Amino acid sequence: MIVLGIETSCDECAAALVEDGKKTLSETVASQIEDHRPFYGVVPEIASRRHIETISRVVHQALGKANIEVLQVDGVAVTHQPGLIGSLLVGLSYAKGLSFALEKPLVGVDHILAHLYAPHLESEISYPYLGLLVSGGHTLIAEVEDFDSIRVLGTTIDDACGEAFDKVAKHYDLGFPGGVAIDKLSQQGSPQAFRFPWPSLHKGDHPFDVSYSGLKTAVVNQLDQFWNRDFKKSKENIAASFQATAIDILVDRTVKAARKTGLKRIVAGGGVAANSYLRKRLNEQVGLEVIFPSLRLCTDNAAMVAGLGYHLLRSGRRSELDLNAYARVRGLRRIYP
Ligand code: KG4
Ligand code: ZN
Repeated sequence: MIVLGIETSCDECAAALVEDGKKTLSETVASQIEDHRPFYGVVPEIASRRHIETISRVVHQALGKANIEVLQVDGVAVTHQPGLIGSLLVGLSYAKGLSFALEKPLVGVDHILAHLYAPHLESEISYPYLGLLVSGGHTLIAEVEDFDSIRVLGTTIDDACGEAFDKVAKHYDLGFPGGVAIDKLSQQGSPQAFRFPWPSLHKGDHPFDVSYSGLKTAVVNQLDQFWNRDFKKSKENIAASFQATAIDILVDRTVKAARKTGLKRIVAGGGVAANSYLRKRLNEQVGLEVIFPSLRLCTDNAAMVAGLGYHLLRSGRRSELDLNAYARVRGLRRIYP
């Protein structure tokens, strides 16, 4: 069964053809990094306009690369939540049109579940496991029971982890995308150069929750005082110290969640899962098996959408043409350990 996946939830316009949820036949991604670089962040209006311009070419390129006729596609899977609403609507409308014209089933895919599915395209991974999803829009620790079922153990109570990377990078002009720039600069910096506060949990917060807005503010405030001193020499140190704090918080919560649930396998996903320090720190944890997707599958891509779409279609899931796009995630169950 060949599934065409379409992903336009943020700034990547992506299409992929995946066979039986496993074998990636082709992938195309039109990056918009250069369009957003002057703004140090994704501008939703620009993103959706670019998607409109590129979606058709991206899908045709994916078909061409795989040497597949559009009529050979058995189903269309499309990200319909969560994400930037204008961006989501472009991919969703295109997918609906294609499914209708081809008379092939359509299925809406949750972007979070798709990120968690990504490593399954490369390795055999059995359920359940502890999923760690860290991206520009989400920070989530969950018990992953199956491809379509997760129980959320912890989330961020404010900013997403990748968002904090992006904001710190923007403030200090470290580069764009912020996470990639900070990761690179950190290689030459000292994680001990600055001491930043960890979030303190309050009544009502859950033990596996994280918070990034305090850290971001501390980095900005603390280092603004430092700006006039030898700043250039210290860009690397700012990056390394911030990165170490942001990632150590995440590792702490993940390891605690693993202990509490007894789950010994951790599967990471999302853009921040590409972070070299996160990979190192998690791999150091004794007694835990840690699985990271390859870098191309960490960030937004359509292979993960097609892969998960296959399983949804196989289990009889179908979306109708009135399927809507949603900016926020719906239907995730939260458990209180
Ligand atoms: O999964 P993704 O492509 O899009 C969302 O669904 O958000 O993740 C993008 C995020 C951005 O915040 C970016 O700065 C961050 O992932 N990121 C990284 C790294 N590569 C990308 N953060 C830390 N280290 C990296 N190497
Ligand atoms: Zn994503």
